[in-house]
Amino acid sequence: MEIKLNVVLCMSITLLLFILDVEAENKVIDVVEKFGAKADEVTDLSKPFLDAWKEACGSKTPTTILIPKGKYLLSRANVQGPCNAPVELQVEGTIKAPPQPKAFKEPTWVTFFRIQNLRIFGRGVFDGQGKVAYAREGCVKNDFCSHLPVNIRFDYLTNIMVEDIASKDSKQFHVNVLGCKNITFKHFTVAAPKDSPNTDGIHIGRSDGVNILNTRIKTGDDCISIGHGTKNVYIRDIVCGPGHGISIGSLGLYKDEEPVDNITIVNCIINETMTGVRIKTWPNSYPNSASNIHFENVTVNNVVWPLMIDQKYCPWNRCNLKEESKVQLKNISFKNIHGTATFPEVVKVICSAGKPCENVELEDIDIKYIGDKGPPIYQCINVKPKISGKQNPPACSTPATETPSISRKLMQ
Ligand SMILES: *[C@@H]1O[C@H](CO)[C@@H](O)[C@H](O)[C@H]1NC(C)=O
Ligand SMILES: *[C@@H]1O[C@H](CO)[C@@H](O)[C@H](O)[C@H]1NC(C)=O
Ligand SMILES: *[C@@H]1O[C@H](CO)[C@@H](O)[C@H](O)[C@H]1NC(C)=O
Ligand SMILES: *[C@@H]1O[C@H](CO)[C@@H](O)[C@H](O)[C@H]1NC(C)=O
Ligand SMILES: *[C@@H]1O[C@H](CO)[C@@H](O)[C@H](O)[C@H]1NC(C)=O
Repeated sequence: MEIKLNVVLCMSITLLLFILDVEAENKVIDVVEKFGAKADEVTDLSKPFLDAWKEACGSKTPTTILIPKGKYLLSRANVQGPCNAPVELQVEGTIKAPPQPKAFKEPTWVTFFRIQNLRIFGRGVFDGQGKVAYAREGCVKNDFCSHLPVNIRFDYLTNIMVEDIASKDSKQFHVNVLGCKNITFKHFTVAAPKDSPNTDGIHIGRSDGVNILNTRIKTGDDCISIGHGTKNVYIRDIVCGPGHGISIGSLGLYKDEEPVDNITIVNCIINETMTGVRIKTWPNSYPNSASNIHFENVTVNNVVWPLMIDQKYCPWNRCNLKEESKVQLKNISFKNIHGTATFPEVVKVICSAGKPCENVELEDIDIKYIGDKGPPIYQCINVKPKISGKQNPPACSTPATETPSISRKLMQ
């Protein structure tokens, strides 16, 4: 009798645990099974996806939306919160945008808007099919170039995890993070051709708490760019290239910009890019500041301009170079930056005469110039940096009076 009771008790507990376990699992909504999505590259995924979102977002319990393996066509999707409970979006398929730029009236393809507690994960790909857009054919005539779509927009989101998915061949920026709090990218991938214009990998603006970890970015513009009003950013284990490296800025172009503060970039490999690590501000600019920015352990391989602070950033001659930047740079460090450069301007720390840089540290800078266009340049203007460790080329050895041949036209 006692044994029997024990068995019954044991079975009941197992059953109870089983029920609890099932309840802990998210409910899964499959867009194909439940909402008639078709992986035929013809049927628009937009309605099935947004119907699934409506159900998931309205649910009082955590829900997962599944986009299964296969290739889908998606015209566009504006995914909006707030939701009643956390939502997960599992993307296993390849989602393709219409290739023709004129299909887009606004610069957005997939937008996530005002959502809290969202996790996007899976082996899926957001494919912007940018090839036609890169050619810029009929651009002026049809006037679509000003609203080429960003692949994925993250607008005003809180507590977000983006894991494993990829962005491919966006027509414009791959990812734009705006007004977000606590968003993490992990094992994310960006891929676009070297010559694709304006295809920044991840652009961050006006956000607080952004982590980008273990991410591989190949693209035609900045791998990661950080705009004004952004603070508390941690970037680690990035492989970037081709592309234009990792940039803070450009800052100071617009009135009412907010400061940039507390940005850390560590353990990155930057291969075959135009610029490596860079902070750029416009001359002739509005006041702003960028503080507590730290680059550590960066390998640059065959980079044109590996390390720069450029407070005379003025592409397309859109400013008056005779005036000085009003953006104050303070507490900036570059530590253990090493590798090779393909242009003589190896290190350029060009600060503003109006607002000289404060507390800049250069520690263990070892970058070999591998070309033959004269001696390597390591220039420090309007700054008294704290120098330590190995310095190759010799730190600040190029006189400020020497205005090197910076091909600013190349560097936009
Ligand atoms: C940040 O978001 C993650 C989800 O990505 C969450 O687990 C974590 O608790 C959040 N942190 C804070 C401080 O809210
Ligand atoms: C700087 O940002 C990191 C990463 O978000 C954060 O962990 C740290 O607490 C911040 N430091 C300060 C002084 O706010
Ligand atoms: C970066 O370039 C170096 C030298 O050219 C090469 O050895 C390395 O494999 C490259 N890394 C990546 C991740 O492409
Ligand atoms: C940078 O690399 C050095 C040497 O490998 C290591 O000791 C240090 O912890 C690294 N820095 C960070 C912030 O990971
Ligand atoms: C610069 O760093 C110092 C020392 O770490 C700190 O006290 C100061 O607040 C920082 N300045 C700014 C503008 O954050």
